[in-house]
Amino acid sequence: MKRIGLVTSGGDAPGMNAAIRAVTRVAYSQGLEVLGFERGWEGLLTNTFRRLTPRSVGGILHLGGTILRTSRSPEFRKREGVQKAAETLSLNKVDGLVVIGGGGSLRGALELSRETDALIVGVPATIDNDVFGTDETIGFDTAVNTAVTEIDKIRDTAKSHDRIFIVEVMGRKRGFLALTIGLTVGAEVILVPEVEYSLESIVRTLEMNGAKGKKSGIIVAAEGIGDTRKLLRDIEERAGVEVRLSVMGYAQRGGNPTARSRLLANLFGNKAVELLHNKQENRMVALQEGKITSIDLKKVCSNEKQLDLTLMKLAQTLAT
Ligand code: F6P
Repeated sequence: MKRIGLVTSGGDAPGMNAAIRAVTRVAYSQGLEVLGFERGWEGLLTNTFRRLTPRSVGGILHLGGTILRTSRSPEFRKREGVQKAAETLSLNKVDGLVVIGGGGSLRGALELSRETDALIVGVPATIDNDVFGTDETIGFDTAVNTAVTEIDKIRDTAKSHDRIFIVEVMGRKRGFLALTIGLTVGAEVILVPEVEYSLESIVRTLEMNGAKGKKSGIIVAAEGIGDTRKLLRDIEERAGVEVRLSVMGYAQRGGNPTARSRLLANLFGNKAVELLHNKQENRMVALQEGKITSIDLKKVCSNEKQLDLTLMKLAQTLAT
């Protein structure tokens, strides 16, 4: 192994830069060269890359986004696209590729592994934390903290006005963000895409809270639960309370990574290079029960991470 490639793909996540830095510096410490492909899979389709060195990745540890930039590439979803990417790897004599991204990117990595001799290693990085086989992904903790900071402020104004707030957080398909954020802000109601919500039960909770003297409240809703504006109107109509909507949006995707996201990026980056060095292929680095380990990429891509629904019950108990 002489030269490795690096790509950040799909939705960006705070801590991706820390991972780029870690992979580059650990690789160089072992005598490996590093090519950073630009704009996700597009860089592999168009043979666009830059050489990364320990110095060129200086000063990025604390920055959100990704210096390599990223994209969602429709061309890479086709077999011809994947083959083109494989050709780019052999053209540049890349012996191993580190793919930093979420579920879609890791599936892309698996497809690529079928077309290339280069060893492929995945590094899970997405604010959604929805990757099977790892307890946490790079960026999740930062996105949670971004939302918690904002919702604490919303709680102040909700209390002053005796209002109910629906706070829409990211998570189009999965509710890991909504559940963790809801638990950590003491949300009265948490709505996730995995569980169909019942208007009756939301109204009942708000009425019970009102009867206890709790006139304000926070409903944390994942973006994937449906139309939160309609939900607002429905609650106002049925519960006769004043409701406001606050959409967190893409702010959760940016910002300086928290210490936890940076630490994970450092440890994952180090492990990814170790795997390549030991000629282990088609693996994804992972955090399992507090330990940095790795898992078969095929297993990652053929399983769904489960949301711990017992935490929904706990959240209800805690928000009485
Ligand atoms: O990064 C994950 C995520 O934020 C999801 O929660 C959301 O569904 C998706 O990205 C939207 O991203 P984009 O607009 O970049 O496709």
